[in-house]
Amino acid sequence: MKVDLSTRYLGLTLRNPLVASACPLNQDAEFLVRLEEAGAAAAVFPSLFEEQIEFQQQQVFGLYEYGTESYAESLSYFPELEDYNVGPTEYLRRLRAARQAVRFPLIGSLNGMTVGGWIHFARLIEDTGVDALELNVYFVPSDPRHSGEEVERRYLDLVAAVRKAVRIPLAVKVGPYFTSFGHFARRLVDAGADGLVIFNRYIHPDIDLEALAFRPNLCLSQSYESRLSMMWIAMLRGRCGAYLAATSGIHEVEDAVRMLLVGADALLLASALYRNGPAHFTQLALGLEAWLGEHEYQGVAQMKGSLSRENCPNPEAFERINYMRSLVAFTGKPI
Ligand SMILES: Cc1cc2nc3c(=O)[nH]c(=O)nc-3n(C[C@H](O)[C@H](O)[C@H](O)COP(=O)(O)O)c2cc1C
Repeated sequence: MKVDLSTRYLGLTLRNPLVASACPLNQDAEFLVRLEEAGAAAAVFPSLFEEQIEFQQQQVFGLYEYGTESYAESLSYFPELEDYNVGPTEYLRRLRAARQAVRFPLIGSLNGMTVGGWIHFARLIEDTGVDALELNVYFVPSDPRHSGEEVERRYLDLVAAVRKAVRIPLAVKVGPYFTSFGHFARRLVDAGADGLVIFNRYIHPDIDLEALAFRPNLCLSQSYESRLSMMWIAMLRGRCGAYLAATSGIHEVEDAVRMLLVGADALLLASALYRNGPAHFTQLALGLEAWLGEHEYQGVAQMKGSLSRENCPNPEAFERINYMRSLVAFTGKPI
């Protein structure tokens, strides 16, 4: 019996759930062709950043020459940003070229944290012909005067503004640090999100002990990091009205299977792509097919969500009792 790996995500039919997550590798049309040939079902283009757009706007109006103080923080981003993925005009040109080079769904990505003039780029991204848009809201609420409600409101206003700007499906990528993530997820959906990408992987700085200064520190992920996303997808499956994509720590076939069992509609991989290249998608698709066949599933649609909170035979696994059991069962001895 042929196993059917197809899945629905953001109203699109994907040939399997394996998607190349937003990262600079995906801005190259030739690389996207290799991904498509290797069996990836779709790709997310790297993000166009709010800071990048505003920098260009400031240049156009000559603002940065007068107000460097007020832009000091954002200006310090730009040397790196220009290496990272060019300016907004070139970004749109590459996105258009990419759209023409591949047939699989291509998802654009905007990355920001404030409602502002930059949002009209959502429409420009839509005009390139992409199939959907991912909005990555990466915001660190470092000001202790801001309440949780204010932080959530910022996200919701941004989602609503982007929703208003485009007609294509909208996925929202967020981190896990909210007081009641399930409730917040539902608010994101009410604000216009068709899908949630769970979770943004926060990048924490390190300290350089010689320079005695903070320094950026991006390490690729490991499989164990997928557990937080896995738990929340299990909790939300069927309970928030959105498509759910898993990201962070998906490397092996087993990681992919677990995410599907809890109810992910799509699996977004970046670190595994950096480590292994596009051929990894071929291996994962074959592995997934074999696992489903061995466990007598007809396809992804049939197994998706069978271990979600709704369908779980032991829902206490998601609650405090799991914490207690884990501690009690731990048998580590001091060396
Ligand atoms: C080098 C690099 C660049 C990335 N750039 C973006 C980006 O432009 N926009 C975005 O939303 N996520 C970006 N990400 C995050 C990935 O899309 C992904 O969500 C995250 O790395 C977790 O998945 P992983 O464990 O498979 O790496 C980037 C990740 C890496 C490693």
